[in-house]
Amino acid sequence: MKDAVRRNIRFLLNDEEVVLDDISSSQMLLDFLRSGKRLTGTKEGCNEGDCGACTVLVGRLKNGELQYEGVNACICFLGMLDGTHVVSVEYLSATGALHPIQQAMVDFHASQCGFCTPGIVMSLYALFLNTPSPSKTQIEQALQGNLCRCTGYAPIMRAAGNLADEFDAALDPILKNRDIITNRLNAFKNGARIELGDDTDRIIIPANADDFAGCLMENTNATIVSGATDVGLWVTKDMRAISPTFFVGHLDELNQINNDENGLTLGATVSYSDAWKALCDHHPAFNKLISRIGGAQVRNQGTIGGNIANGSPIGDMPPPLITLNATLTLRRGDERRTIPLEDFFMAYGKQNLLKGEFVESVTIPKVPANSHFAIYKISKRRDEDISALLGAFLVTLENDQVTNARIAFGGMAGIPKRAEIVGYALDDKPWTEDVVRAASQHFKEDFSPLTDWRASREYRLKTANNLLLRFYLETTGNLASPTHEAAE
Ligand code: FES
Ligand code: FES
Repeated sequence: MKDAVRRNIRFLLNDEEVVLDDISSSQMLLDFLRSGKRLTGTKEGCNEGDCGACTVLVGRLKNGELQYEGVNACICFLGMLDGTHVVSVEYLSATGALHPIQQAMVDFHASQCGFCTPGIVMSLYALFLNTPSPSKTQIEQALQGNLCRCTGYAPIMRAAGNLADEFDAALDPILKNRDIITNRLNAFKNGARIELGDDTDRIIIPANADDFAGCLMENTNATIVSGATDVGLWVTKDMRAISPTFFVGHLDELNQINNDENGLTLGATVSYSDAWKALCDHHPAFNKLISRIGGAQVRNQGTIGGNIANGSPIGDMPPPLITLNATLTLRRGDERRTIPLEDFFMAYGKQNLLKGEFVESVTIPKVPANSHFAIYKISKRRDEDISALLGAFLVTLENDQVTNARIAFGGMAGIPKRAEIVGYALDDKPWTEDVVRAASQHFKEDFSPLTDWRASREYRLKTANNLLLRFYLETTGNLASPTHEAAE
């Protein structure tokens, strides 16, 4: 019933229908599973979305299709789960027999202490549900977000590599019940806004984007949560209160991807996983970057809009999007305005957002012809690491003359920021090594980076210089892209 307010959330947990009318805005799925339901197969390791020990599957109806993704239960709020199917490791062997994935882990000696094993099983389960015959690269990517401290990954990879023939859809609890589960999730829908709690701890789950825009005007101090890969840590690490809280990850209107003559437009709640292909179609340079953002679980939960809206100086998406001249559409009530993305970041922790306004979408114009574009993420580990700095470079050439150079960095200032002076030093000049080396001297005028535990000020400035030179050498064919990226 439209415009009605519901006072509970409903979801399927394995085979059980769960109805909750008294939950906290900060309550995590992991705690609910382990303490509330005694489903202790899901483990708690890091409690910050890094280790994957808490991996569960969440199935959602997307455009009518039931799709499952692995998520980290430790940073998944209960308020995000209305209308979903939550699958914990216990579901796989509910009949008493081991699931083929579990059996493969046994057969190939892929578990020692076993603490990581349920999470690894669930990540592989998500992979095989979506990709019945995965490549080695796909298996590696599926396991990027699962840390094993004792077995080592070779036996785990062997177990996964031998699974394709063993995965019998007729016996799998999700595949054989797909239609039944779809019907059960459809029955949960009623188009109502959900409101839970009271003034001390309040949850609002809007019915649609218009409802969200209207409610936000009345609750301008609220925390907006979509994927929770950032806000989850405010709660688990900083013990911050986030009430009142809007959960918006389910809003279809904010979850759209459009590609037209204006470029690529991503709704604010589009996840990295869902945006991956569209971004790579826009420019292949995004492939390597997104493959290095978190692990599969973080990419499934984390959103492009969240990475922008939180204003982090080390978010990985703003520098390439600023370089590409992306614009943001901001909505406040029924009003919208569009601004260049680089104008959104005003100062550390301060974004160009009015009270009651939210990020609705980001539009990325097409890359101009005769352009070179590259993104370099520098971190201590290849996978699952926060950037020490991240540089994005776009240069447009005509007869080997620079007609436009745009460079932006994260990790070099209190906000993601363009290297304007370096860009001016390249504009209208020949694209030569001498010009590039001279322009790189201006990074210290554009940026005054901090020293912190990720990198020193000197390292950051030196690396920015080197990345511009590397970009030049790659565009001129004098430096092949590295095959080993551990230090990049
Ligand atoms: Fe480590 Fe959740 S407990 S990712
Ligand atoms: Fe011990 Fe993986 S088997 S952490």
